[in-house]
Amino acid sequence: MIKVVITGSNGLLGQSLLNLLLQEKEKYKVFGFSRGENRSGREDFTYVKIDITEEKKLKSKLQEIKANFIINTAAMTQVDDCENNKENCDLLNVTVVKWLAEVSKEINAHLIHLSTDFIFDGVKGNYKETDVANPLSYYGLSKLKSEELLIKSKNDFTILRTILVYGKVFDMSRSNIVLWVKQMLEDKKEITIVDDQYRTPTYVEDLALACKISMDKKAKGIYHIASNTLLSVFEISQQIAEAFNLDKSLIKPISTATLNQTAPRPVKTGFDLSKTNKELNFYPKSFKEDLQKFKETLI
Ligand SMILES: NC(=O)c1ccc[n+]([C@@H]2O[C@H](COP(=O)([O-])OP(=O)(O)OC[C@H]3O[C@@H](n4cnc5c(N)ncnc54)[C@H](OP(=O)(O)O)[C@@H]3O)[C@@H](O)[C@H]2O)c1
Repeated sequence: MIKVVITGSNGLLGQSLLNLLLQEKEKYKVFGFSRGENRSGREDFTYVKIDITEEKKLKSKLQEIKANFIINTAAMTQVDDCENNKENCDLLNVTVVKWLAEVSKEINAHLIHLSTDFIFDGVKGNYKETDVANPLSYYGLSKLKSEELLIKSKNDFTILRTILVYGKVFDMSRSNIVLWVKQMLEDKKEITIVDDQYRTPTYVEDLALACKISMDKKAKGIYHIASNTLLSVFEISQQIAEAFNLDKSLIKPISTATLNQTAPRPVKTGFDLSKTNKELNFYPKSFKEDLQKFKETLI
């Protein structure tokens, strides 16, 4: 049996990973770590209620389980919260990763860690794994620091960088661009969306699959995971309206300059997927195609 610990098992990726790995219970023994109660809607795995910012508790639980793989999906992910609360951001997004790397080395576990397009400054776009990072926000900087410490650790690790993840959680408590645009248009509300920021959004089931492929292949190093077509956030919203047969005239374009967000966002990200295609033999599709798959899960 392959023992897998998923930190953040209540989160968007965490829940999707549970659903994927628990399809193969004869292969994977799954442990989910999260704060509070188990909100995944599943009982067929070992749930560990834990605050992973408590070093002793985290390390001793991991020492006890001795997992083959640790998938670290827990993070402070709200970009403006990170800007306003740098200490908490550092603790969860950097220091916890350092502890996970230390304990992974001791128990000989392979650590799979999630990072972001926000480590880039958004000038070039269509980023390769080898492109130079230059984060604009504290969130991006914290994720870059976590990458750097893993690279220095010389552990077995995989870093999966991803972009604008969407999907659903069991109790529908967590929103994302697709669910938000759909809800607003269903309520016939006019929305303003930036037309000068570009992304390749990621369906959470693809991201979970990339984690599983990384385990199966024991892939080491950095990989980019996202859909395969670069779109403006305005175009993304229009495609959501089309997929759900909603009125796209309610979507009005605005520029980033008028937004006044706390943390600056990179203008143009998006990933070059050549390395992922070649080394993981993984070929993500377009946002349009992924949206159809996601739509079916909402019926
Ligand atoms: N979502 C995106 O668009 C996006 C884009 C690029 C990269 N990423 C990266 O992808 C990864 C997964 O993102 P996600 O959207 O799945 O995140 P998420 O839905 O916010 O899930 C993170 C989970 O971690 C848990 N957690 C937070 N602090 C914890 C603590 N101290 N102890 C234990 N658990 C804790 C949270 O628990 P509670 O539910 O109790 O708060 C939450 O369930 C993250 O590393 C993120 O940075 C995400």
